[in-house]
Amino acid sequence: MLALAGRHECLTLNTIADVRGGLVALEALHNVPFEIKRVYYLFDTAKGVKRGFHAHKQLKQLAICVSGSCQFLLDNGSQKESITLEGVDKALYMEGLIWREMSEFTSDCVLMVLANAYYDEADYIRNYQTFLEFISR
Ligand code: TYD
Repeated sequence: MLALAGRHECLTLNTIADVRGGLVALEALHNVPFEIKRVYYLFDTAKGVKRGFHAHKQLKQLAICVSGSCQFLLDNGSQKESITLEGVDKALYMEGLIWREMSEFTSDCVLMVLANAYYDEADYIRNYQTFLEFISR
């Protein structure tokens, strides 16, 4: 199967707030642009650690720091962009062939990721050179 072209987008989620506090709702095919098959979260990330260093062939993901913040370096093979993900109403949508590296996790960072597919190691590209080869296909 051909890999999906890489694309990312920063989204602002609608917050419902009143005197009691705030609430954000995530709904498949409404503010989440896919059917949700999996949710996972990264937490207690050790100081100075970098994660990611991979791309996906097909996966669609929405990442939200539900606590704290972290940095994403996104690379579509021709352009690199650094994004600070911070705020419970900020979401980063990624699909297809995007090389990503995450760093600068604050000690309170909980990075939640929604995905449109179950975990599948075969969908990962963990070698940067292989990623560039996929881009040029
Ligand atoms: P990995 O995707 O390499 O983490 P990161 O990109 O954040 O550095 O995953 C780390 C480990 O967790 C790896 O052994 C695969 C496993 N894993 C699952 O079992 N299920 C999942 O949904 C994810 C994302 C990872």
